[in-house]
Amino acid sequence: MHTFDDIEIRRPELATSYLSLLLAQPGRPIALFAPRRVGKTYFLDGDLTPAAEKMGFLAVYADLWLNRTFPLDAINQALEEALDDVNVPLSRLGKIGKTKVKRVGALGASLELGAAPRRRSLPEKPELRMDSLIARLAADSDKPILLMLDEIQALGHSAGGEAAIATVRAVLQKHKKKLVAVFTGSSQEALGEMMMSAGGPMYQFAQLLTFPFLDIEFLERLASHFRKVHPTKTLDIDALQKVFAHIGFKPALMKDIVKEMSAEGMTDVNLALAHFMQDERNFLAWQSVFSGLQPLEQAVLIILAHGIAPMGKETISVLAAVPTVKATLAKVRAALDRMRKAGILANPPKIGYMIEDRLFRDYIAKTYIPNYIAAGKLIQTSST
Ligand SMILES: Nc1ncnc2c1ncn2[C@@H]1O[C@H](COP(=O)(O)OP(=O)(O)O)[C@@H](O)[C@H]1O
Ligand SMILES: [Mg+2]
Repeated sequence: MHTFDDIEIRRPELATSYLSLLLAQPGRPIALFAPRRVGKTYFLDGDLTPAAEKMGFLAVYADLWLNRTFPLDAINQALEEALDDVNVPLSRLGKIGKTKVKRVGALGASLELGAAPRRRSLPEKPELRMDSLIARLAADSDKPILLMLDEIQALGHSAGGEAAIATVRAVLQKHKKKLVAVFTGSSQEALGEMMMSAGGPMYQFAQLLTFPFLDIEFLERLASHFRKVHPTKTLDIDALQKVFAHIGFKPALMKDIVKEMSAEGMTDVNLALAHFMQDERNFLAWQSVFSGLQPLEQAVLIILAHGIAPMGKETISVLAAVPTVKATLAKVRAALDRMRKAGILANPPKIGYMIEDRLFRDYIAKTYIPNYIAAGKLIQTSST
């Protein structure tokens, strides 16, 4: 290991345990839940895929967040690419081997190759197409398939999302002998909602599991590399743990903070966090998210950042009096929902709406004071 960036935590046992669970319950997928940026995709790619391949699976990954408008197309595209990989041999030698020789010329001089093996074309309708693709992929590869659908809550947000969910479910049921599936989601409530809106079937169908955050091993690895770079200095693991929890267990962010500490040779992680908060790059990113919001959304965000209930009677009456906002309960609710769908807010059961990114929340709370909302404008405080 040479730099902080080379620090990787691999979780093969976790991968194997998920795969055993899948094999023990044919037709029932698992859905892994954890907030954004804690390492779900990293795990699918670096742990689950190799573990599955070792067990003889063909692993197919689709990122549904990338094609939020047409998530079924994202799934189908991933399946088609996998099918190509299985069927289109890489070398010319392979190509000759796979196509039947139609006719050998009289003197053996012209070796004419048969047309590539042809089959009925795939159905155009995405629902049927997915079904055919799975069948072909399993047949052609002669392997069971692990289908990984990353950020599956995108299915619930798309137009025709319910139909898409029903399709995924039907296809998984139909092919349960040769297909297992793992979903991930960064919004538990969105998934719960999606399962309910699909008439409940998905709810009993997928097994919801909480995807575990990286543990102390990650922090120990960071601290040990720090010690290599600064042999006379030691990082306090307890303090690192507190900050790691504070930033929502996001490993890339934690690495950035420790890298910064290493560059400056400092060991006070709280001070490092404070520096990080003042870093202009973060500042600009947060500010641009904030300025992209409508006035009512901005007001609601400030209120949430200060821990005030956004749909409380008093809050609504204050917001209603603001000329630029003129809020009603319905409008506030719609604003909350929009920001949740945009991933800015989370809405965990029993907790209610909260700003997803803890540091963004700290930034908003520090920069804007809710009293000013009542005066009709959002005034930046001079504290930053
Ligand atoms: N196991 C790990 N070891 C080291 N770094 C990790 C690990 N998991 C995640 N990371 C870091 O965190 C970043 C975000 O992880 P990612 O998998 O994209 O999160 P998610 O899919 O949950 O949003 C990665 O790009 C990587 O830098
Ligand atoms: Mg991800």
